[in-house]
Amino acid sequence: MSQLKKTLLGSIAPLMLSGMLIAQVAPVNASEADQKQYARFTQDNELLTPRNYREWMFIGAQVTPKDMNDGKPAFPEFHNVYIDPVSWAHWKRTGEFRDGTIIVKELTGVGAKQSASGNGYFQGDFNGIAATVKDSKRFADRMENWAYFTFDSYDAKKGNIQDDEACAACHKANAEEDMVFSQHYPVLRAAKPGK
Ligand code: HEC
Repeated sequence: MSQLKKTLLGSIAPLMLSGMLIAQVAPVNASEADQKQYARFTQDNELLTPRNYREWMFIGAQVTPKDMNDGKPAFPEFHNVYIDPVSWAHWKRTGEFRDGTIIVKELTGVGAKQSASGNGYFQGDFNGIAATVKDSKRFADRMENWAYFTFDSYDAKKGNIQDDEACAACHKANAEEDMVFSQHYPVLRAAKPGK
């Protein structure tokens, strides 16, 4: 073997070896992390009340104030929306909501309409939560495999699954991205690959 070939081999072989090691180790770690599920269920497929969502990714804060909705908005009044971190990472990578995605919307009342920054709507106290989960096995018969839940209170052990007509139908008809209202979430749009 010529000296040149030997030198080349000597410098390439370790690179190839480390490449093989990375190829063997990385996917295992990635898939373990990828499989982490944040939606937890009872044995009967009922969603346990999500607990640590305020530490997930915050994607938006719509407000349907009482004074613009005849005093009775469907979801009073601020809607602070969080997506679990692994599904957020998946969204950034693929622009899709993975199986297992959970999105929680926490409701907060309007606390004040005036502050040092001016007139407006300022968040007051927490009012409760609603959630949606995508799961093609568990919710195979649901619209686009998303199931919607309400909760009687923060202390409730589990959520109440809703009929498709009550929640999913409006999402299906009006939401821009796989049942999710991405048109109201600039954070989602900005992170979508290819944008
Ligand atoms: C008449 C239409 C309509 C109905 C019915 C409806 N929603 Fe929504 N939902 C929206 C809109 C619009 C948004 C985004 C803007 C906002 O929060 O107001 C939203 C947002 C959400 C989000 C945040 C994720 C997303 O898709 O943007 C969750 C979770 C959610 N709704 C749960 C529910 C549940 C649970 C029900 C049934 C009890 C329900 N929704 C019924 C219109 C609807």
